[in-house]
Amino acid sequence: MTIVIALANQKGGVGKTTSTVNLACALAHQGQHVLAIDMDPQSSLTIYYNNDPRTLEKQEATLYWALMKDQALANLILSNPDGGPDLIPASISLAGAEPELTLLWDSASVFRGKLNTIKENYNFILLDCPPSLTLLTVNALAAADTVLVPVKTDYLSIMGIPLLFDTVEKVRKRLNTRLSILGVLPTMYNARNIHDNDCLTELKEVLGSRIQLFEPIHRSTGFDRSSAIGKATLDAFPDTPGVPVYHHIANELIHHGESQ
Ligand SMILES: Nc1ncnc2c1ncn2[C@@H]1O[C@H](COP(=O)(O)OP(=O)(O)OP(=O)(O)O)[C@@H](O)[C@H]1O
Ligand SMILES: [Mg+2]
Repeated sequence: MTIVIALANQKGGVGKTTSTVNLACALAHQGQHVLAIDMDPQSSLTIYYNNDPRTLEKQEATLYWALMKDQALANLILSNPDGGPDLIPASISLAGAEPELTLLWDSASVFRGKLNTIKENYNFILLDCPPSLTLLTVNALAAADTVLVPVKTDYLSIMGIPLLFDTVEKVRKRLNTRLSILGVLPTMYNARNIHDNDCLTELKEVLGSRIQLFEPIHRSTGFDRSSAIGKATLDAFPDTPGVPVYHHIANELIHHGESQ
């Protein structure tokens, strides 16, 4: 049984990549076999894990080559020798996949077909989406079982959430009936900031009882410092506030997987 989780929000810089790294690490700590896939042409996840997207691109070893050419997805996996998450990297060439995908009759489900070829090898697969609602994100949603929505506790980030939920709903109706929303994860929260607290209250109202709101991840330099050394915050600075929330989400996902 594999659970595929898309970390998605069309708003940029809300903690999608940071949450992918730390949730993947929390799951791997619990002995789960985890794969993280970089679906963003910015390649932040690939760079986070200390890979050079340009070198990988020259070797035809990035996601673009599996999505749009005949490269097997399995050939792209960068295995983690320490039992941490494996990675499928991206490079800027992935931006070229968007216009190419539009020409295909199955433009929204190309990735799902490819993912099915390797899915069974993992307990959890995390998809780090780009900050847009275009075809790369739609392909991720079409392949996912559930969506985790990182959101910054600021006004503009929260105002974008209904649009994301609309997109999830459309994908559920037309492409992927099993797609659910795991929850919304507030990030970069500063408990002493009145605006952050107002936003959290607003978020609770927007979500109501329909959608789970996780405990907020506090703003902390531990997240920036760990990205600079290419390690998950959970490993590099485990005392960083917010780290327990990633463990909590990992536990919930494992429990969910076991009850299936
Ligand atoms: N809880 C946090 N506290 C402080 N800084 C954080 C926190 N979470 C993430 N950051 C920092 O915020 C920046 C943006 O985070 P990240 O790259 O994860 O966002 P993103 O949503 O993936 O961005 P993009 O939309 O560009 O892909 C990074 O520099 C990251 O280190
Ligand atoms: Mg990112």
